[in-house]
Amino acid sequence: MRNAAIVAGLFTFTLATAALAEEDEKFAQHCVACHGTGLEGVEGLGVSLADSAFVGRKTVGELVAFLKVGRMPGDPESVAGRPMPGFGWLTEAELTEIATYLKSRHGP
Ligand code: HEC
Repeated sequence: MRNAAIVAGLFTFTLATAALAEEDEKFAQHCVACHGTGLEGVEGLGVSLADSAFVGRKTVGELVAFLKVGRMPGDPESVAGRPMPGFGWLTEAELTEIATYLKSRHGP
């Protein structure tokens, strides 16, 4: 009886970790180097996305549109004066996954 509970617990834990890893994978692959594993940003590279007002006010669809083109330093929305590369070569599904992840990790 007790073993069954432990097995059930382990199973739930495995599912939860698998879902998290899956969600994180594309961000880890393409964005972590500049934005950090905790979305805190990296000095001299990408800005923090955890407390970004831009991420907060954009919808997932708007973020996908942004990710396709990125942002050049001359852009009126520029915050760091450094280029954010465009990811137009990723699929719509991949960009949607990343944008959804950003929204889910964004603070209130
Ligand atoms: C080469 C480094 C680099 C990589 C890789 C990168 N970014 Fe950025 N990102 C930046 C920089 C620099 C800015 C700030 C641009 C500016 O000055 O406005 C930025 C800005 C952003 C913003 C806007 C933040 C705001 O508050 O205006 C979002 C959202 C974002 N990045 C998401 C991503 C995602 C998602 C990925 C991966 C698909 C990614 N970035 C990959 C460097 C990078």
